[in-house]
Amino acid sequence: MKIKKAVIPVAGKGTRFLPATKEIPKEMIPILNKPMISIVVEEAVNAGITEIIFVNSRGKECIENYFDRNLHLENFLKEADKNDQELLIKDIGSKVEILSVRQKEQLGLGHAINCARPLIGDEPFAVLLGDDIMEGEVPGIKQLIDKYEELSCSGVIGLFEVPKSETSKYGIIDGEKKTEGLFKLNAMVEKPMPKDAPSNLAVPGRYVFDSEIFDFLDKIPRGVGGEYQLTDAIELMAKEREIYGAILEGTRFDTGSMEGYLEATIAYASRDEKLKQVIVDSIKKYI
Ligand code: UTP
Repeated sequence: MKIKKAVIPVAGKGTRFLPATKEIPKEMIPILNKPMISIVVEEAVNAGITEIIFVNSRGKECIENYFDRNLHLENFLKEADKNDQELLIKDIGSKVEILSVRQKEQLGLGHAINCARPLIGDEPFAVLLGDDIMEGEVPGIKQLIDKYEELSCSGVIGLFEVPKSETSKYGIIDGEKKTEGLFKLNAMVEKPMPKDAPSNLAVPGRYVFDSEIFDFLDKIPRGVGGEYQLTDAIELMAKEREIYGAILEGTRFDTGSMEGYLEATIAYASRDEKLKQVIVDSIKKYI
């Protein structure tokens, strides 16, 4: 079955970006002039996704509004002769159907994804985390969708290699190498110390699952931090079904952390000659 739906959970508290996230969803914080969530939705659209399901929470309505049309602004820009699609993101909004479901209590990523169940039904679907930016020739999530369709398995999760000394920052997989860049998943370990890490393959926020993942999400107890962890459901599913990990080609920015956010901002700015010069001058001046 073709994958047309993507779940993007955006209901988290975003504590690492307080005080901004007291009033602004973390996903709406921009990299230069574009909110992170806009970049993530573009990745999904470029991968052929036609239906996005946001798992939302109170106070985050502006995410849906962002993808809606703003006729008042459109008219204003038209009169000012600035009828630029880029400024209005009309284009994305017209290519994809945006739906949303509420996560009434922030009980973790696993719980958030389970909230989308009624809108997914029995179709396979993609998951993209709204605070992880992936860039590459082929959109990150498209790479996983292609693998899922090729392998006819129960799920494919994105992987990237990290230095062994940094395993304690990530979810790390224990897998069996099948072909170059492809691993059959045996287990997952959350933030292991380098000496305990089964590999140096970390899990960023890109996944594809068939709808059976919901049955496993129903089975897991609360895990780390008292939250329902997606990792626990994947681990349980991997014991009974075939789940693969595929190393993603491209660059990943963990924009949910201050460090990753800064790196992404510099990377995006460096693509514009004028802004690139500002970076060089600022480094000379301040560092
Ligand atoms: P994170 O743990 O990175 O996000 O969850 P957070 O909780 O918003 O941020 P910090 O750690 O407090 O700074 C990864 C993704 O899962 C969503 C978040 O919105 C984020 O995009 N999430 C997390 C939910 O939708 N619901 C939850 O209960 C937890």
